[in-house]
Order: sequence, then C-alpha cells, then structure tokens
Amino acid sequence: MAEAIQNTNVFSSSKKRMNPDDSNQDDDIIAKKLPTKPTWEDPVMALANARHEFELSRIAHEKGVMVVVDNTFAPMVVSPARLGADVVIHSISKYISGGADIIAGAVCGPASLLNSLMDLHQGAFMLLGPTMNAKVAFELAERIPHLGLRVKEHCHRALVYAQRMKKMGLKVIYPGLEDHPDHHLLKSISNKDYGYGGMICLDMGTEAKANKLMNLLQNYTQFGLMAVSLGYYETLMSCSGSSTSSELNEEEQALAGISPGLVRMSIGYSGTLEQRWGQFEKALSRLQEPGLFGKN
Ligand SMILES: Cc1ncc(COP(=O)(O)O)c(C=O)c1O
Repeated sequence: MAEAIQNTNVFSSSKKRMNPDDSNQDDDIIAKKLPTKPTWEDPVMALANARHEFELSRIAHEKGVMVVVDNTFAPMVVSPARLGADVVIHSISKYISGGADIIAGAVCGPASLLNSLMDLHQGAFMLLGPTMNAKVAFELAERIPHLGLRVKEHCHRALVYAQRMKKMGLKVIYPGLEDHPDHHLLKSISNKDYGYGGMICLDMGTEAKANKLMNLLQNYTQFGLMAVSLGYYETLMSCSGSSTSSELNEEEQALAGISPGLVRMSIGYSGTLEQRWGQFEKALSRLQEPGLFGKN
C-alpha cells in the first residue's frame, strides 16, 4: 500500500503494518494486534489503513479498546468519528492551516478523555501546552470556512493529474483512480463531493530518477517544491523512502508499497490547473531527453 492511500492512520500497539491484501487477516489476527486493555502508552503508528477502519473499531470496542485515528491526510474527505473512531487527531499544520505557517494540532474526543489528558497533575498533555494560543486559534478559525473549498480543489487537481499521468504510461498510485484496489472502499466511506484526497504517488523506479524529476519540477519548471510536508497551496514533493518513511527498514518499506523511487506529491492549487500541468509535462520531457539521465 503506498502512502497515497494512508491518509487515515490508526494507532494500535502493533509496529507491523497490517497487510490489507492478506486474506488470512481475519478478526483473530486483527484482535491479536490490539492491546488487551485501553492504553495510551507507546501509541506507535501501526499504519493500518482505512480498509480496516470499520472492523478495527468493532473489534477494538468489543475488547474495550479505544480507537484513535490520525486524519491529517484527509480532513473533509473522511470523517473517522462517523466510522466508529473514538478519538480523531489532526496535525493542523497541514491541510487545515493550508499556509504551512502554523504549528498546531487537534485532539477531538470525549470531554472526559480530553480533560484527563489535560489534568494539571497527571495528564499526559500537561507539559505539552494543551491549550492553543488564542491568536493562533483565531487565525485558524478564519481558515476553517474555506477548508472544504480548498480540499475540493486539492482533490480535483490530484485526480486530473493522476488520470493524465496514468494515460502517459506513468506508474501513478491514487485512490481516485478506478483501478486502485481501495477505490470503491474509499468511495463508500468518504464524504460526497470532496474527492479522493490531495496526495498522489508516482513511482519513478529508482531514487536517483525520483530526485532528478523533483529537481526539474522545482528548479526548471517551478511545478512544485521539495518538502516533506503536505496540505499546502503549492505542490510539495518528497521521495518517501529516503525522507518521511526512512525510519522503516527495507522490508517494512516493501510491505508498505514504498519503493525507492516513489515520489509523494501533495497537490496544490496555486496557478491554473493547465499551467501547472504544462510545467509537469515540460519537466518530464526534459527528464526523458537522451543524455540527461542515461537510459530512461
Ligand atoms: C499523518 C501525520 N500525522 C501527524 C503528523 C505530525 O505533524 P506535526 O509535525 O504538525 O505535529 C504528520 C507530519 O507529517 C503526519 O504526516
């Protein structure tokens, strides 16, 4: 599973990614991966993806375990609370801010839980500054009303680019494409009219080729910027295997579908769609020029 579809991550106590294509992964196996009692300790991102979200919630609740979903990649697109999650967290620094200028986060859940986290003497968040600066909160409140519009445009452009990249014969991974293994699942759990997320993965085969393409896209055609963040109005690109997911070993990366040449793109909406697409095409043609990159 590539990063493009990991837009809904679920915390559990397992460090192994659950393989959604593993037919042996029945309730028992999922249940064994869950902690046996409610716990906030060591909440390692298990990278279980949306395919299991209903199931995880059901099994977790049967065992009295709380389900926490990191929905940073898919605000508006997916509503984990409606799918059974008890707590939803967001890095607000991404899509919700939209400007890459605010460092903030949100924990959304039952007041009893949040109050316990913020408890002055015992709370896990006690030393982290759980209350947002009022000026930052005001600034964010001004951006929430157009979050939906922004997300729609991120998603629209991501879908158009993914379709065009596919048509060109590029290896593109995007859950909005009908032949993506989780396309129908995402369609069934997502909120109507927002689209399929703003993240695309493009597999360039090797890390060197991925870096060359990103260099051209940033410095030759100004299609986007190399950065490991996401949800900005400009397109951001990174080579996941050597950046955001570099803490995973080779085997874990392979299991996660993160090939060494995988370019993760957070599609932005500045400029016009056609202008930006022209910049993408120009960089790609340059990459394919004989001599620039040896054999293509
Ligand atoms: C899915 C997800 N959650 C949380 C974070 C952490 O964000 P922050 O650095 O704003 O705390 C990131 C950072 O990239 C992320 O990708």
